[in-house]
Amino acid sequence: SSGLITLDPGYKNTGATKSAITFLDGEEGILRYRGYRIEDLAEKSNFLEVSYLLIYGELPTQAQYESFSKEITHHTLVHEDIKKILEGFPSNAHPMGVLSSMICALTAFYPDSLNPNRTEEEVNLSIIRLIAKMPTFAAWAYKNEMGHPVNYPDNSLDYCSNFLKMMFALPAEKYDVDPIVSAALDKLLILHADHEQNCSTSTVRIVGSSQSSIYASISAGINALWGPLHGGANQSVIEMLEAIKADGGDAKKYLDKAKDKNDPFRLMGFGHRVYKNFDPRAKIIKKAADDVLEKLGVNDPVLDIAKELEYAALNDQYFIDRQLYPNVDFYSGIIYRALGIPTDMFTVMFALGRLPGWIAQWKEMRENGEPIGRPRQVYTGSNERDYVSMNKR
Ligand code: SDX
Repeated sequence: SSGLITLDPGYKNTGATKSAITFLDGEEGILRYRGYRIEDLAEKSNFLEVSYLLIYGELPTQAQYESFSKEITHHTLVHEDIKKILEGFPSNAHPMGVLSSMICALTAFYPDSLNPNRTEEEVNLSIIRLIAKMPTFAAWAYKNEMGHPVNYPDNSLDYCSNFLKMMFALPAEKYDVDPIVSAALDKLLILHADHEQNCSTSTVRIVGSSQSSIYASISAGINALWGPLHGGANQSVIEMLEAIKADGGDAKKYLDKAKDKNDPFRLMGFGHRVYKNFDPRAKIIKKAADDVLEKLGVNDPVLDIAKELEYAALNDQYFIDRQLYPNVDFYSGIIYRALGIPTDMFTVMFALGRLPGWIAQWKEMRENGEPIGRPRQVYTGSNERDYVSMNKR
C-alpha cells in the first residue's frame, strides 16, 4: 500500500458496506436470508415469499403475501412498444443482452424512476414492476431467439407456471405446465435469490449509489452476472460437460487441463471467492437434480460426468489445496436442461432468481444513504512529461 491507499484487487479483503440482508459463512458453508437458513427456505418457502422476505425484511403474513402476489400478478403485462425494441434484436442475440436492454428501457416507460427524490410508494411500485415484468421479458427474449410469437402473461397462474407457459406455449398446440417443473424452478429461484456483495450485487449498488434509477441499476447487475466467471458459469458448466462427453467422457483429462497453468481452461462451476467449503446451494441442487430427473424420467449422461468430475476434483491435491468445491452453478444447468430450458437461457434463470436480492440490496443502500462508490488506485503510469508536437514524434 502507499500512504492511505491499500490495494485490494477484486476487493478480496474489502467490506464495501454494512448489510442486514444475507449472511454467508465461507468456512462453515452457511447461507441465511434475513437469518433464515437457506435449507429451510428451499424446503418450506416459495420464491415470491422469499422475495418479500429479502426486500421487506420479514416473512409475510397471509394478508401481506396475498396482496404482494396480487400486486405482482397485476403488473406482469409490458407496454406494447417493448415489442418494437425486441424486434430490433437479431435472433442470435444472447437473451442476457436482450433482458438488460429491456429492463433499462423501463426508464423510458416510467420516467418518474429518474427522480432520486420520488416517494416511497413510487419506489415500491418500481419494485413490483421489476419482479412482475422480468419473467415476461425473459420469456419474450427466448421467443425472439426462436422466431416464435410472444405469449402474454396468464394471470390465473402462479409466478413460475406463468413464466413457463410464456416460455414454451405455442399457438399451434395446447400447453399445460407440469407442476413438477414449476416446483423445481421455484426452488432454484429461491437458491439464487441473494448472496451478499457478489460481483453483480456490488454492480447494482455502485450504479445505484450515483442515484441512477433502479431500472438502470438492475440492468447493470444483469450485465455483470452475464460473465462466465459469475452467473454465466452455469451455461459454461453444461458446455464443458458436453465437451467432456463428446471427447469420450474422460473427466481426469479435463481435471488435468484445469490444473495446467498454461491452459486457460478452468473447471467451470468449481471454486468460490467466499465458500472455502461446500457451497450449501450446490448440495441442495445436487440432491434436487437426482430428484427432478428421476421424477421427470430424464436420464442425462452429463449428470454422471458431473458427479465423476466432482469426485475426482474433491480427491485431487490441487483442488484440495485451493479449497475448490462445486458452487451453485455446477449442478443447476443439469436441472434447467431437464426442465426444457435451453442452455443460453440458464444465466437468465440466474438473473430471475437474483432479482429480489439485487432489489433488496439497492433499497438498503438507498435507505442507509450510502455514499457514492468511488475507490482510489495506486498510480503506476509515467511521471510528468512535456507535450511533444506531432512533427517531432
Ligand atoms: C457465482 O461471489 C458470489 O457469491 C458469486 C455467486 C453468487 O451467488 O453470486 O456465488 C455465483 O458466480 C459462482 C462462481 C461461478 N464461477 C465459476 O464457476 C467459474 C470458475 N470459478 C473460478 O473462476 C473462480 O473460482 C471464481 C471466479 C469463482 C473465484 O475466483 P477467485 O476467488 O478470484 O479465486 P482465484 O481466481 O484467485 O483462484 C484461486 C486459485 C488460483 O490458482 P493459483 O493461481 O492460486 O495457483 O484457485 C484456482 C486459480 O487458478 N482456481 C481454479 C478454479 N477456481 C480457482 N482452478 C481451476 N478451476 C477452477 N474453477
